[in-house]
Amino acid sequence: EPASLAQALGKRLPFGAAVTAAQLRDPAVAAFIAHQFGMLVAENAMKQESLSRGEGRYDFADADAIVDFARQRSMPVRGHALVWHHQAANWMFTDGAGEVSRATLVARLERYIADVVGHFRGRVFAWDVVNEAFQFDEPDAQTDAAGMRMSTWRRIIGPEFIAIAFRAAAKADPDALLFYNDYESQNPKKVAAMRGLVRDLRADGVRIDGIGHQMHCGRVWPKLADVADAIDALAAEGLRQHVTELDIALNDTLTGSAVQAATPELLQAQAQRYAELVNLLLSRRDKVSALLVWGIADAYSWLLGWPQPRFEAPLLFDTRLQPKPAYHAVLAAARAA
Ligand code: G3I
Repeated sequence: EPASLAQALGKRLPFGAAVTAAQLRDPAVAAFIAHQFGMLVAENAMKQESLSRGEGRYDFADADAIVDFARQRSMPVRGHALVWHHQAANWMFTDGAGEVSRATLVARLERYIADVVGHFRGRVFAWDVVNEAFQFDEPDAQTDAAGMRMSTWRRIIGPEFIAIAFRAAAKADPDALLFYNDYESQNPKKVAAMRGLVRDLRADGVRIDGIGHQMHCGRVWPKLADVADAIDALAAEGLRQHVTELDIALNDTLTGSAVQAATPELLQAQAQRYAELVNLLLSRRDKVSALLVWGIADAYSWLLGWPQPRFEAPLLFDTRLQPKPAYHAVLAAARAA
């Protein structure tokens, strides 16, 4: 059996993965997960669309299965994500008369967060309260002057939807760590926006504890120096940081996949990049206190299917759950640290 990465990284960098309830129902896959990972996050099961069945109605079955599995093995659980523009509980936005008023949407969101965070109170140690509220990567995208995405939340409630969400989460579980989570979090514009957000929230007496760096990387993007700068800049705000969704694609663009098969050279380059990134995180372990990969193995990566099929083989284990060169590189980095 390949050595456990969670054990090798140990307390220096708590290591976990995004999982699904279906994976845990398969005994062989469940055993693999329990061996390799020390922290879990639900890839989809704790999103609004998965949990919400209407006002005050919930389906917690898959999310509870993941939390129970983790707790039986003393693995901390991250909660992902309370408010996002994708996979929202779309019933919240309308009623019989059409689009709801601001007051109604605020009340529905507050109730949702109170119920969900309350349900998992004491069992989820950190929440991604708001996911991907800013965006600077698509020039044509609808954003406000601050770069805030014109999601339905932002449009109906205004930028205060973020403060409302953090307040509600803090009230529902005073002990859970509250994170803002985003992709491209090394982009200086996004770093500045996140720092501004944190300062505004704190000036209003709203608690925010950390920033989640998604880190869906390509083979050469982003530059590690930019990642290092972002971590240092955010640490200066007194924030905890987690790398929440790491994967390293074999390609570099979001459109079209030139690479259709994994060659030994590509897998080696990917392995080196994984090692460089893990080394960077280990060198900043006073600032970054968790690393999670977004999927347990290449067979289960989101990139295979969403938003369009892509071949990227972006994870540490292959389609048969066997270790890839990237696994060996991370293991070596962990052991050398
Ligand atoms: O489960 C349904 C199935 O019943 C249905 O037949 C099928 C048809 O579309 O869809 C299935 O749901 C899909 C779900 O993944 C489970 O596979 C959704 O359509 C699909 O949209 C969803 O994609 C997820 C994606 O977020 C979309 O929101 C990915 O699994 C998930 O990995 C991805 O995760 C996000 C993070 O939450 C935030 N950061 C980026 C990251 C990657 O996109």
